[in-house]
Amino acid sequence: MPSLFDPIKIGTLRCPNRIWMAPLTRGRGTRDHVPTDLMATYYAQRASAGLIISEATGISVEGSGWPYAGGLWGPEHVAHWKIVTDAVHAAGGRIFAQLWHMGRIVHPSLHGVQPISASATTAPGSAHTYEGKQPYVEARPLDLKEIPRLIGDYVTAARNAIDAGFDGVQLHAANGYLIDQFLRDGSNHRTDAYGGSIENRIRLLREVTEALIATVGAERTAVRLSPNGDSQGVDDSDQAALFPAAAQVLNALGIAFLELREPGPNGTFGKSDRPAVAPLIRKAFSGVLVLNSDYDLARGQAALAAGAADAITYGRKFLANPDLPHRFAEGIALNSDDPKTWYSQGPEGYITYPSASI
Ligand SMILES: Cc1cc2nc3c(=O)[nH]c(=O)nc-3n(C[C@H](O)[C@H](O)[C@H](O)COP(=O)(O)O)c2cc1C
Repeated sequence: MPSLFDPIKIGTLRCPNRIWMAPLTRGRGTRDHVPTDLMATYYAQRASAGLIISEATGISVEGSGWPYAGGLWGPEHVAHWKIVTDAVHAAGGRIFAQLWHMGRIVHPSLHGVQPISASATTAPGSAHTYEGKQPYVEARPLDLKEIPRLIGDYVTAARNAIDAGFDGVQLHAANGYLIDQFLRDGSNHRTDAYGGSIENRIRLLREVTEALIATVGAERTAVRLSPNGDSQGVDDSDQAALFPAAAQVLNALGIAFLELREPGPNGTFGKSDRPAVAPLIRKAFSGVLVLNSDYDLARGQAALAAGAADAITYGRKFLANPDLPHRFAEGIALNSDDPKTWYSQGPEGYITYPSASI
């Protein structure tokens, strides 16, 4: 069985280790969602990850609702992401872009329009906006006629990602955002071909993934899911049936890898009492399977040794330790992350975490 320090191939890309960086929104772009030079420094510092998955990056104005998060719909985004990917590649790294449509989580104060979702539902709680926290508003159900346009937005963003030098794209289908809102029966009450049966609720995930594959190739297309339990009020009555079925569809499409965020009952970024669906997905999906949430070195090695995963993504540990693979290899103590600077602007708590000197 492999170790975290063994290389792994995804498509034609050789990843030198299986210690990957999880997608992390950090809010260091401009108000127009253009990447900044600070972001190039941050990602290049973390180039020793087997693979970096970028922060969630808006595919369109409609899908973007996080202050100062990156976007990928216009030429200015492409030009500035190119500076980031060049810096990562120059430092010897590899980076996929996580493609994001937030659906009902987008607050209208950002772009002045009502958010879209599978159905007319409202997320619980309040949104991060430029004016502070504001309660979510009710989404309008996406019209059937709009689906080709939505898929087109994903295609444009994926093409832009490759033009910007990314090594591939990851469809963000996790954490209660748009694709997840379609997947689960708690937020999808549609009665058309995109709602009702599991097959119908998987349809948007399948069609978007197919479109991404047609645009950038299966070897450069990945997907992230968060199967066990509620995310931002999005939940399903039968996760153990839904998610293995989704994984089976993705398996048939031959995607580059599937990443699962599954916190446990003592999770420190989300918690869930529901069992992880990963063991069922491992049976349904024969490609590269990547696990996430609260992993340390020992738990990551154990997951690989048990054949439960092919790689692990580390979120907050990579946030605070730019040289995480080196620290793991040498048994060097880890810096801890400071939640106060997770989403703050500026360099503090972003590019200021030190690498170890040995
Ligand atoms: C500051 C922060 C930002 C995050 N942003 C994203 C994101 O953009 N996309 C995503 O899929 N998950 C995001 N997550 C979730 C992480 O990818 C990961 O699932 C979570 O941190 C648990 O992994 P860890 O225990 O290794 O940190 C974020 C988490 C944190 C702490």
